[in-house]
Amino acid sequence: MAEPFRLLFVCLGNICRSPAAEGVMRALIEVEGLAERVAIRSAGTGGWHTGKLPDQRMRSAAQNRGYDLSSRARQISENDLRDYDLVLVMDQQNLRETRSFDRESRFAPKIRLFCEFCTDHEVNEVPDPYYGGEQGFEHVLDLLEDGCRGVLQHIRQQSGLV
Ligand code: 4NP
Repeated sequence: MAEPFRLLFVCLGNICRSPAAEGVMRALIEVEGLAERVAIRSAGTGGWHTGKLPDQRMRSAAQNRGYDLSSRARQISENDLRDYDLVLVMDQQNLRETRSFDRESRFAPKIRLFCEFCTDHEVNEVPDPYYGGEQGFEHVLDLLEDGCRGVLQHIRQQSGLV
């Protein structure tokens, strides 16, 4: 079988937005029967939370929608930029910081803002929910569910998946 399409989600801490994106996207590709064809992971531009499960508030909000978030936080590396086909960042700060790992600007075209793939929401960023209330986590999930559908469509077109 062909190599899977490799998709990486990136946020700051890798304990809220990007692990949730990973969970939402994984559920979507499983429903579509593409689990063997798309490899998904996430990372943070910062390494402070390395080894931790996602934030409990994010896990609870995701659990209520049927997503199990059980990845462990880790920091992005330059090798990730080499190895993944598409690197989707949550906000402008993530974009700047992810680009800073690409020291020779070799991977710029595959580093993109997640919200480019949203169709139901006119936004540029998935806002950091860490210091806010419960509603922020719901908003993150709304954006992720929207954008992940667009990401799936993009992957289907790019890699010829039916
Ligand atoms: P994330 O959220 O980038 O969506 O994982 C954050 C998690 C932790 C911190 C900031 C944002 N922090 O400052 O520790």
